[in-house]
This record gives sequence, C-alpha cells and structure tokens, in this order.
Amino acid sequence: MEEGPVPRKRRATSDAIGVTLKQLNGRPVIIENVSRKFVTKQNVNDLPSKTAKEKKKRRNVPSGELSCHRLQESLLSSASGYSNYRGVLNWCVVMLVLSNSRLFLENLLKYGILVDPIQVLSLFLKDPYTMPAACLVIVSNVFVLVAFYTERRLSVGCFSERFGLLVHSINLSVILCFPVAIVLMVKSVTPVGGAFSLGVYTILFLKLYSYKDVNKWCREKSYAKARSLSRSHSCPAVSGNKGNSLVTYPGNLTLRDLYYFVFAPTLCYELNFPRSPNIRKRFLLRRLFEMLFFTQLLVGLTQQWMIPIIQSSMKPLEDMDLSRMMERLLRLAVPNHFLWLIFFYTFFHSAMNFVAELLRFGDREFYRDWWNSETVTYFWQNWNIPVHKWCLRHFYRPMLKRGLSKWASQSAVFLASAFFHEYLVSVPLKMLRPWAFMGMMAQLPLAWIVACFLHGNYGNAAVWISLIIGQPIAVLMYVHDYYVLHYRESVGRTPE
Ligand SMILES: CC(C)(COP(=O)(O)OP(=O)(O)OC[C@H]1O[C@@H](n2cnc3c(N)ncnc32)[C@H](O)[C@@H]1OP(=O)(O)O)[C@@H](O)C(=O)NCCC(=O)NCCS
Repeated sequence: MEEGPVPRKRRATSDAIGVTLKQLNGRPVIIENVSRKFVTKQNVNDLPSKTAKEKKKRRNVPSGELSCHRLQESLLSSASGYSNYRGVLNWCVVMLVLSNSRLFLENLLKYGILVDPIQVLSLFLKDPYTMPAACLVIVSNVFVLVAFYTERRLSVGCFSERFGLLVHSINLSVILCFPVAIVLMVKSVTPVGGAFSLGVYTILFLKLYSYKDVNKWCREKSYAKARSLSRSHSCPAVSGNKGNSLVTYPGNLTLRDLYYFVFAPTLCYELNFPRSPNIRKRFLLRRLFEMLFFTQLLVGLTQQWMIPIIQSSMKPLEDMDLSRMMERLLRLAVPNHFLWLIFFYTFFHSAMNFVAELLRFGDREFYRDWWNSETVTYFWQNWNIPVHKWCLRHFYRPMLKRGLSKWASQSAVFLASAFFHEYLVSVPLKMLRPWAFMGMMAQLPLAWIVACFLHGNYGNAAVWISLIIGQPIAVLMYVHDYYVLHYRESVGRTPE
C-alpha cells in the first residue's frame, strides 16, 4: 500500500544543473534544470499531488510564483518511472461491470429466465430410488478397509513387503477400474453423478497410494534404525515423544487415523498432521455461506449464460463455419472463465477451509498466488497445492531418485495428470475423446514456449490467455461430440 503523498523538497545539490532567470511577458521566470537522477520513483509517483502545506509555502514565498516549470517527463512515458495505476485498475473493474451488465441484460431479453434449481437435482438423480453415484461412494469404504488391514498385516510381519505391495496394487487398480465399469454399465448414472463418484474414487486412489508409501517409509526407517542399533549395541533413548502426543509407527495404524486422513483436505498422508487449536465458528459459518452462495451462482450462471451459448455453437461447429466458430468460442470464453474462477474460490478456498476448520486441520495452503504466474510451470506449481504436493512427493521425486532426468520425470507427471483429466471427463460422458488429455499434454510445449520467449507481464498474459481460451476449446469439443452422439437430430434446430 502506498502512503500519502510525500512533499517534494527543493534541495540545492550538485545534480541541479542550473537556475536561470528569463524575462517572459515582462515577468521574470526561474527555470530549474533538475537532473533526472534526483527524481526518484517514490517522489515521481506523487508528482501530481501537492500538499496543502507545500501550496501554502509557495504562496508565502514570492519567488515560488515565478517558477512553474521544471525539467520533467510526462507521466505516461516510461522514462518518468511512474507506476501508480490504481485508478486505471478501478476503471477496468467499472468497465468490466458495465459491459457485463449489458451482456446480462441482453441475455435476459433474449432467453428470459432459464435458471431452474429443480433441473439441477435431475443431473444427480435420474432414478431417485437407486442413486448409483451415492452407492458407489458408499462402496468405496471397502477399499479403505482393504488398505487398512493390509498395512496392519505388514506392520506385524504377517505379510511380506512383496505380498503387501501386490495387495495394495490390486486394491488401487480396482479403485480406478470398478467405478468405470459401474458408470459405463448402469444406465441411470448421469454425467454429473458419474463425474462426482469418479472424482471421489480418484481422490481415494491418491490418498491410499500416499498411505501405502508413508507407512512403507516408516517401516524402512524403523528397520534401518534397528539395524544400526544392533550394530552399535547401544540402548536408545526413546524418541522425544514421551512429553507430547506425537504418534509413531505403528501406533498410527488405527481406523480413526485413516478416516481422519480420508476426510482431511490433503492427498499426502502424515502420521502427525499440524492441527489448529480450536474451531472458529464464525470462520466456519462464513465458509459455509460462501459455499452455498457460490454453488447457486455457479449453477445459475451455467444455466442462464453458458448453456445458451453452447447450444448456439453447435450449428457453426457442425458446418465447420470457422468465423462463426471463433465468434462463439470467444463468446463462451467469458462465462467459462468466470465459472472457473468462481469454482476455484468455492472449492479451494471455501470448501477446503470449511472441511479443514471442521477437522482442525492446520495446513491451509491449498493454493498459492498462481494469478501472478509468469510461466506455465509456476501456474502448475501453485494453483492446486494438494495435487502438486502429491505429485512431488509420490511421483516426481521418487523418479528423480531412480535416476530419471528432470524432463522425463516432468513429462511422466503431466502424462499421469493428463490420464486422470481424461478419466474424469470421458468416462462420465461415456465417450472416449482425447481433448482433455491433449490439453494437459500441451502444457509441456506451452511451458517451454512461454519460458523461452515471453517474460514478465507478457508471460503472465500468456498464462491468462491459455486459461481463458484453452478451456472453452475443450468444453466446446466435448459438448459438441456429446450433442452429436445423443441429440444429433435436434442439432440443426438449435437457436442462433
Ligand atoms: C511436475 C511437477 C511436480 C514439477 O514440479 P517443480 O516444482 O517444477 O519441480 P522442480 O524440478 O522445481 O523440483 C521440485 C522439488 O524437487 C526437488 N528435487 C529436484 N531434483 C531432485 C532430486 N534429484 N532428488 C530429490 N529432489 C529433487 C527440488 O529441490 C524441489 O524441492 P523444493 O520444492 O523443496 O525446493 C509440477 O509441475 C506439477 O505438479 N505438475 C503437475 C500438476 C498437475 O497436474 N496438477 C493438476 C491440477 S488439476
């Protein structure tokens, strides 16, 4: 934050090249030649504002009236060093609100009110008596229990490491395959219900993978410790856990501990999570209110703004009308981007903080300042911290340790991420298309291009453009293919 304007001081320094007196219209004028070195960023920022004190001083000093010019740059020229564009930022916000109000009105006049909360329920439930997506989520507990009992067996030596790994591998594979089979086979699973249950299974897969890895690391550590102790024959001091309540392996292998991790807003298991001292009720209620409000807003904007544009884009896509396709794409980019931003805030701030507060989970770093990304790499390191942490801890670093190059390891992470993006979109839509996969894999060359050719603000603009334009391209491709597959006969009749 900038502080109030600092009064300019007139200093007689050697930097001042000279002071001359000229006669202008019969009045003497003092021309001060002030070197640019003397005009610092701080005082240049405050040039336009004169304090009352300075004005008064000038009024009292007669010579002050005589000098009203000095050597200086215009504010908008880069040489001036001026950087306070707060007013311009406000102008941008005002323009954004005005232009979107116009769009809002135009939309209302054209389509009327399309928001229908009842229709949203039907996206989750086709048949309210079976609710397959909810059943799928309940069944996922079986996989949690399998992972738990495998770890218990491993901890007491009933299972060998190899056999334990085999059981975990089968369990994790089934976690990925079982919901696919159900979503594809059961007709009453809707795309939204399918996406929700697959999302839950994907999160569970990542969590149980982390659970398996951390417990294995603990066993390896305790074996190494036992070996070094037997070699030294020394009696160890029990690690400093007596005074505090830190859990040590295998004391963590309880159902309570595992279910805490399953519900905690993280994908990386730890024996002792940082805990917040208490639940702040006001904070909790605020997050709950935000969740409810923004979810309604997301649904309303999708129905009122996004769906009509998507519907009107089907015909140009069918006809391969390039100019109209571009126009619809740009039209879709705005609501799509707003929805994505609202989703980001609702999920990564409101929902995750709500759950964390409820569970007194202390680490609230769910995102960092991705909006300042000047490179694509920075964006992926900072926008989804739980996934990034998991990738680093359980995938990227283990690969680096095995001797893979940085580039190969990064490519492998993006390949896995591309697979999961495709998995979460293609399976619920019941059609295999490569758009999400390609979108994720395209991040690698894009990262390279941005890092090589665009820096600073240009890099930041490139990241924003890739977010604003890239997503609606994928959305349009999927929706178009879905429409063609399911409602081909009505495509020709969609409104313009
Ligand atoms: C691939 C990815 C993990 C790379 O992350 P990155 O931060 O660029 O990787 P870096 O090479 O900078 O190294 C990261 C860490 O590994 C460490 N590291 C580097 N080389 C290492 C080595 N040989 N051995 C061990 N550690 C090493 C680094 O020190 C660094 O640690 P630090 O974070 O504590 O400083 C990241 O881009 C990513 O998460 N991508 C996928 C994200 C994604 O798909 N998200 C989906 C969201 S919907």
